[in-house]
Amino acid sequence: MAPGLIETVVDHPVDTKAEAVHARDQIDSTNKEAFAQSAKTTDYEAELKGSAKHPPAKYPHYLPYWDDVTYPPLEPFEAVQPGNDADPSFPNLLAMANIKDMTANIGAEVTGVQLSKLNKAGKDELALFVAQRKVVAFRDQDFADLPIQAALDFAQYYGPSHIHQASGAPKGFPRVHLVHRSANDTTSADFFQERTNSITWHSDVTFEMQPPSTTFLYVLDNPTAGGDTLFANLAVAYQRLSPEFQKRLHGLKAVHSGHEQAAASKARGSIVRRTPVSNVHPVVRTHPVTGEKALFVNPQFTRRIVGFKKEESDYLLKFLYDHIALCADLQCRIKWEPKTVVVWDNRVTAHSAILDWQDGQRRHLARLTPQAERPFETPFEG
Ligand SMILES: [Fe+2]
Repeated sequence: MAPGLIETVVDHPVDTKAEAVHARDQIDSTNKEAFAQSAKTTDYEAELKGSAKHPPAKYPHYLPYWDDVTYPPLEPFEAVQPGNDADPSFPNLLAMANIKDMTANIGAEVTGVQLSKLNKAGKDELALFVAQRKVVAFRDQDFADLPIQAALDFAQYYGPSHIHQASGAPKGFPRVHLVHRSANDTTSADFFQERTNSITWHSDVTFEMQPPSTTFLYVLDNPTAGGDTLFANLAVAYQRLSPEFQKRLHGLKAVHSGHEQAAASKARGSIVRRTPVSNVHPVVRTHPVTGEKALFVNPQFTRRIVGFKKEESDYLLKFLYDHIALCADLQCRIKWEPKTVVVWDNRVTAHSAILDWQDGQRRHLARLTPQAERPFETPFEG
């Protein structure tokens, strides 16, 4: 026996600190998952009754629950394109509206319209208006005060609302995705112990075969300052590239994966509602109504350019991610006010949460996420 072999085996304690870091890295494999919530991080008692420091949740029927119901794989379906039927002068949507541009390149703030009262023509116009402006903040809306089913019915005019594989949902409404951090939550302070930056540019659930289109997010509770949301115009991000570079991107496809999000959910002891999937989408996609082309890659879900070696793929994707993140002139910042509904076209935008408030105030929003066509790219026109 080689000297010292037994000692080597016995005296090799598990480095628990390294193990903990490894477990944490698995959960953090993509930034966004590092501050995802679960039943364990939700203080239902404080949410329902309030605490010494914080009032109860304003919308307790929207509190998130993580049940263990699982769902079959999503089935392909024929997507609707309400924007194709819209009157481009928007008589039903904007006749009484006050519209303020947020920036030159993206975003509008609208008052004087009640989304829930729109007729069919108004709903069609909403799809086109949002496709053009990319993201629109509608103020003074009654969405949060409607029965949940009524809000869901409104959104499902644009397509079946996505059932998220890992997020909490209001009891009985798996098609509502919740963004929720309990009062007294310490996620932000904990996060910045390990990281310098919380920005996580992405378009929602791009790993699905038919990712979302006209998407709705409405506020229930928000910190008095902070918790804004960033949006970026990916059509202008594409247009900004040289024709030669655009030509090189034409025809490229990339793998988008939901596996890491599912694994991160499992690693923190939470749920996975559906067998996770990957799908291949064009790097540049064409909007089916406006005909605009837009970049369609994001660091949260895009993994690899098909046919490129890893270093080549990483190099190109990093350039595109940096391009989107650094072009502040293509971005806007939504400030949430009570009764705000933000609507964006997920096909031509990216967004990021901003994790900045550290005083334990509650943040609670609901998202309705209609799925649409499988992404496609039209011929290169130069
Ligand atoms: Fe998102």
